[in-house]
Amino acid sequence: MALTDTLSTADGPDSGFDSAVSLLQLVRSMRSTDFRIAEDYQSIWQTANRINWNIQDLIGGDKRLNFTQPFLPDALVGINAIQCLSDEEKLKLNQIRGNSYLSLFGLCEEFILPSVVEHINQIRWNNLYATQAFLHFAEEESKHILLFQRFAEDFEQGFGTVCECIGPAHTICDRILNHHPLAVALTTLHIEWMTQRHYLESVRDNQGLDPQFCRLLRYHWLEEAQHAKLDALMVQDIARSLSPEEIERAIADYFTIVDLLDQGLQQQVQLDLESLSRATNRWFSDVERAEIQTIQLQSYRWTFLWSGMTHQNVGRIFNEIYPSSETQLLEKAKNFG
Ligand SMILES: [Fe+2]
Ligand SMILES: [Fe+2]
Repeated sequence: MALTDTLSTADGPDSGFDSAVSLLQLVRSMRSTDFRIAEDYQSIWQTANRINWNIQDLIGGDKRLNFTQPFLPDALVGINAIQCLSDEEKLKLNQIRGNSYLSLFGLCEEFILPSVVEHINQIRWNNLYATQAFLHFAEEESKHILLFQRFAEDFEQGFGTVCECIGPAHTICDRILNHHPLAVALTTLHIEWMTQRHYLESVRDNQGLDPQFCRLLRYHWLEEAQHAKLDALMVQDIARSLSPEEIERAIADYFTIVDLLDQGLQQQVQLDLESLSRATNRWFSDVERAEIQTIQLQSYRWTFLWSGMTHQNVGRIFNEIYPSSETQLLEKAKNFG
C-alpha cells in the first residue's frame, strides 16, 4: 500500500465506529507494509551479496581502453548530429564524453555516499536487514568512486591531451547536501533509475563500442540495480516521518538541485569544447562553437536530467509520497528533453 493510500484511510470516516475500524485497518496495513519492506531489504541485500566484483577485475594490466573505438552510444552523447566535425573529431568528442560521463557519475556518488551513511544512522537497530543493505550500498558507491578515479588515470594516459571535468567534487557535493535529505534522496533515485535506463536502452546491445568501457558500465549497472530499489525504499522511509507540507517543500528543493546540476552540465559543455580543441588541435569559429555547444547541451540535459526525471519508476515514487507530484516532475523535465 502506498503511503498516500495509508494517509487517506486514516483521514476518511468520521463516526466513532468507523474511526475504530479505520484505525484497525491502518494498523494492519502498516504492519503488512513494514513486513513487506523488511522482506524487500533482505532480498535486495542477498542479491547484492551475490554480485561482488573488485576494481582489479575490471581495470589494470591487459584490461585497457581502446582509443580507436567510441566509448558511448550516440543516444547518450548526441555527436552524429554535429555538422562541423569530421569522423575523427567526432570520435575524440565521444571519448571526451565517455570521460566526463564517468567523472559526473563519480561526482554524484560522492554526495550519495554521505547521504546513505546518514540514513544508516537514522535506522539504527530498527531493521538490521535495512542496515546491512544500506551498508553494502555505501560500500559499493565508494568502490565505484575509486573505479572511476582509476579509469580517469587510464584515460589520461591513453587519450594524449588534458580533458577537464567540473569540480572540485566536494564543493559541488556540499552544495547539494545542504538541501533537505528527502530532496537529496529523490536526486539519488533519479540518478539510479537513469543509470538503469542508459545501460538497458542503449549500451547493452551495442556492438560498436569499446568492450573495456562497456564492461565498466555493465558491472556498474549490475550493482546500481540494487541501489535503485534501495533508494526507492529510502525515499519512502524518509517521507513516512514528514508532514505533507514538508514533503512538498522537499520536492521543491529537489527541483533546485536539478537546476544546480544543470548549471554544472552547462560548465561541462564549455570544458569539453576546450578539450576537443586541444585534442584536435583545431580552432573553432563562433558559428562552429555555437553549433557544438547547442547540440551538446541538449544531449547532456537529455542524458543526465530528462532520462532520469521521466523514468516511470521515479514518477511512481513521486506520486506515492505526494499526490500528483509526477505531473510537476514531467512539467519540469520538459525544459531538458
Ligand atoms: Fe555507483
Ligand atoms: Fe548507486
